[in-house]
Amino acid sequence: MQSHENTPAQHAVDRGLRFEQLPQRHTDRYQSDIRVLLPTYDGLHTLVDAYLRPFVPDDGRVLVVGAGGGTELITLGLAHPNWTFTAVDPAANMLASARSRTEAAGVAERVRWCCGAIDATNPHLHDAATCILVLHFVAGDDERRTLLQGIASRLREGSPLILVSAVRDDGNGDLPSAVHSQALYDGAIAATGQERLAAKLRQNIEQSAAIPGDRLKQLLVDTGFSEPLQFFQTYQFVGWLTTRT
Ligand SMILES: C[S@@+](CC[C@H](N)C(=O)[O-])C[C@H]1O[C@@H](n2cnc3c(N)ncnc32)[C@H](O)[C@@H]1O
Repeated sequence: MQSHENTPAQHAVDRGLRFEQLPQRHTDRYQSDIRVLLPTYDGLHTLVDAYLRPFVPDDGRVLVVGAGGGTELITLGLAHPNWTFTAVDPAANMLASARSRTEAAGVAERVRWCCGAIDATNPHLHDAATCILVLHFVAGDDERRTLLQGIASRLREGSPLILVSAVRDDGNGDLPSAVHSQALYDGAIAATGQERLAAKLRQNIEQSAAIPGDRLKQLLVDTGFSEPLQFFQTYQFVGWLTTRT
């Protein structure tokens, strides 16, 4: 059985949450680790398609922020043969993994690859955007605001954004985050039998840059999006649908 002594997310915490600095072996393990951390990971991506599809034209162009690994590109690309994608991620290793997985799925030729921050993408307007499991790696309100404004500036008015992020409670009572952390830990042990992996996954989330959900929703409104609709939650991971105002 694979050792999980240092999971990708654990290295990210140690090194300031930078996926681009992870050793290759950790990137290779991302697909299995993420499904332990978030047991509803594949269902989440199915839901993302269900919530996006009413908004996006048949030949829609979708901005995928934090596209490393490639799951959004594959799920949406297979479901919508005429959609095209802009894939943005600062981590070359995670983008390379996305590229090889999308090539195997026959989707890669519809993807424009941008290795870098949102500024690395050209200013083309898109019909939809996703930002899934990214924002809790972005520390600081200015940085979070820059990312969300960058997405807003690349969306047409009325176009949807799917945002999924870990959140934490506001510190006025530790119960909600503590309950979710314990469930995450117990769920990871039940799924893998690996106590050290479970402990590290829990630690990763507890030490992440997650902010309270209400603050995140306000940040969305402040950066040019409508009042978000929550469509998903597993443990501390919450998903919202919002639109560019
Ligand atoms: C946990 S992975 C999620 C990948 C994918 N969205 C998924 O659902 O599997 C987080 C990704 O976000 C990327 N990331 C971190 N900061 C980012 C930023 N400011 N802009 C775009 N991507 C970022 C990381 O490099 C990494 O590939």
